[in-house]
Amino acid sequence: MKIRERIKSLVNSRTSGEHQYHQNDFMYSRKGPWPQPSPVHPWGESPAVVHVPFREVVDWWIWIGSRYVATLGLSPYYLLKGFLFPGLKEVSDEKFQDLLNYSMMSKFLTDQLDQADRDIFKDYLGEDRQWFIVDLQAVEVVETFEGIYVSATKTLLYKEDDKFIVRCIYVDKTTTIFESTDGDAWELAKYFVLQGGALCATLVVHPLLHFPFDSINAISKTSLPKDHVLFRLLSPHFRFTLPLENAVLNYKSSLLQEKWYMTYAPYPGGPAGLRDLLVEGYKGIKDNLSYPPFSYSLTSPKIEGKYGVYLAKYYDVFYSYVSEVLKDVEKNDFWISKWADYCHKHVVDFPNGEKIWEGDTLIRAVTTYLFTVTVAHSTDHYNYGQINKREVPLRMRQAPPEKGVKMIKRSKLVKPWDLMKYYMADNLFFSPTTVTSLIQARYNFKEAHRVNAATKFKKDLIQLDSDLKKMGIEYMPLKKIAASIQF
Ligand SMILES: [Fe+2]
Repeated sequence: MKIRERIKSLVNSRTSGEHQYHQNDFMYSRKGPWPQPSPVHPWGESPAVVHVPFREVVDWWIWIGSRYVATLGLSPYYLLKGFLFPGLKEVSDEKFQDLLNYSMMSKFLTDQLDQADRDIFKDYLGEDRQWFIVDLQAVEVVETFEGIYVSATKTLLYKEDDKFIVRCIYVDKTTTIFESTDGDAWELAKYFVLQGGALCATLVVHPLLHFPFDSINAISKTSLPKDHVLFRLLSPHFRFTLPLENAVLNYKSSLLQEKWYMTYAPYPGGPAGLRDLLVEGYKGIKDNLSYPPFSYSLTSPKIEGKYGVYLAKYYDVFYSYVSEVLKDVEKNDFWISKWADYCHKHVVDFPNGEKIWEGDTLIRAVTTYLFTVTVAHSTDHYNYGQINKREVPLRMRQAPPEKGVKMIKRSKLVKPWDLMKYYMADNLFFSPTTVTSLIQARYNFKEAHRVNAATKFKKDLIQLDSDLKKMGIEYMPLKKIAASIQF
């Protein structure tokens, strides 16, 4: 054996336990992407993958980035639409309640009232009801542009049968509680709740389905051999994600920035405050039970109402699939233990190389990854895309209400260019634009039982899609659910 080969073999045998692997048995010859502290907010945001392989960047530009550039040409069309159909539409009390009950904003519904909530609503909590809250305190960090307003709000609701009924709204900027009998002030309060919901949905809770999972994407590509079963199971769900995330977080042209020429930057304030929303999502808000810090979950998300039922049913299908694929993986498999240790270092509460072997922890950890980057992530986008942008504003041109205030005309509550930016952002980023779909994901398994498991998985997904329709829980058609985070 040549000296070079001999050294290579020694290095590999020392690092690879019982199997011998060479560098070229790995996707990027073990020199692939890896997470690092976030360049913008090293202690407040989740670790980021900044050095993205060139071929992934090119792939992303061909399929996604080029569409962004082409779509910029639609700005005049959306501006015209903003002039022709100006301002906001009326949101009835029923519609308002439905949005909090059934849209992706139902993620905010919780019965965990903390001390501040109890103090604010003390005059109501004496009523004998099962109380819930939609707490949108997180938006208080937004630094708004001149003439644009935002306010933290808390909406008090009670549960009656399966429905959450709105009782009143607390608007933080004016420290006032409004009820449905408060006329114009009530109408304004509803818009501020919906605006807060839109901001918290897109910049506080939805990012938790993106950025913490990037570490797992990068670590898996770099540390797992290409012929390992775990690599084969995960890899159909990696494409487009790392370049996308890097563009959102670090490009000067990101929608989180605000320059005059950015016809797609829809938010009410500049990047500093917006980035703080991401920090609140990841680190949580002290003493506020509605905003716990991010923790890698080993179960389906606990969400009230139909949205939670929809997600839980999909989680179960992924769980059965992953159980079948990984059922004969040897305990303490060297590569999985290492992979878990690496992930554990970068993803809060990801089980380490020892814990991963307790009970069904490995199956749950893998299920959470696959379920999150496909169904949970895509459905959020699809649902938000369906929301009428003239009912759920991102900008408000009237100050938060006080009792007895007169609301300006609805057509003036947002300006035509506010709408243009919102429509553009919706077209580019919010509404899903699926390039590769979950149902067409190809798993390169070699063993018959794994190939069969993948076939059964697809059948189970199709069956669930049809069952959910029958149950009236239609959130997103299965065929549109993406195979990875690609929008
Ligand atoms: Fe997303």
